[in-house]
Amino acid sequence: MSQVLASSSAALEPGDWVLGYNGWQTHDKCHASQLQKLDPAAAPVTSALGVLGMPGRTAWFGLMEAGRPRPGDTLVVSGAAGAVGSLVAQFGKRAGCRVIGIAGGPAKCAWLTGRLGLDGAIDYKSFSSTETLAAEVMRQSGGVDIYFDNVGGAVSDAVIPLINLRARIVVCGTISQYEGGIDVPELAPRVLQHLLFQRATAQGILARDFVHRMDELRAVVTPWVRAGEVFLDETVVDGFERLPHALNMLFEGVNTGKLLVKVA
Ligand SMILES: NC(=O)c1ccc[n+]([C@@H]2O[C@H](COP(=O)([O-])OP(=O)(O)OC[C@H]3O[C@@H](n4cnc5c(N)ncnc54)[C@H](OP(=O)(O)O)[C@@H]3O)[C@@H](O)[C@H]2O)c1
Repeated sequence: MSQVLASSSAALEPGDWVLGYNGWQTHDKCHASQLQKLDPAAAPVTSALGVLGMPGRTAWFGLMEAGRPRPGDTLVVSGAAGAVGSLVAQFGKRAGCRVIGIAGGPAKCAWLTGRLGLDGAIDYKSFSSTETLAAEVMRQSGGVDIYFDNVGGAVSDAVIPLINLRARIVVCGTISQYEGGIDVPELAPRVLQHLLFQRATAQGILARDFVHRMDELRAVVTPWVRAGEVFLDETVVDGFERLPHALNMLFEGVNTGKLLVKVA
């Protein structure tokens, strides 16, 4: 997201806020057709990078299309204090689900049950084995109807065996495996028996598949954002030169909500 400095397009003038995939740079020259003009009066401009942007799209369509929530369902979200996860959790609550969030550290868990009003939160870092983490997920959830997975790895090993009949697993991301693990897959088939016996479905979702449906998202979610009923907290890092540092912060779990870098 950036601000227009100069434009030869009638549609844009200096000072306008625009959204575009302009890369990791301080300035860019591009065609106006590559940019989406933002309306600061409709919603805070940074929401175009959050709840009304790619993370919101991932959360909304991932949950609605693949998770298919029904009132009374138990929804477990991993990476629950992050950008996508915290929105999934809020959308799940609005859909009438019981929502249990999994995140790293007591502060994030307190934020999940406090600010987000979730029904439960689990600090996965406080468990030394998959078995003890699974026991806590079972204790808090009583079984899982929807598992929205942002992290993969050991957390998913703990959650997937707890799925209920006809559960839906939304495969959104596997951040625990991004540091090399994604090229050396774990023994994935060990989870398949659980899908088989519970007649469950696991569906991968990609935000890019729903770009053409952003109007749908904005129509439903913008009033909630304006009313303050749905929000995405922001962790802001200052300075273009700190971009690499900010990227690494994602793997260290420093951010709550959306991690943004303020270039200037
Ligand atoms: N399918 C799609 O189209 C799509 C679109 C956007 C994002 N994604 C994926 O969705 C996931 C969340 O993305 P996001 O942008 O919203 O990031 P995010 O959740 O805001 O930030 C990443 C979080 O992941 C957690 N994490 C890091 N290493 C971990 C590990 N080893 N085990 C468990 N948790 C770990 C950290 O939280 P803790 O402090 O809780 O550990 C960290 O704050 C990522 O896997 C991303 O690749 C997919």
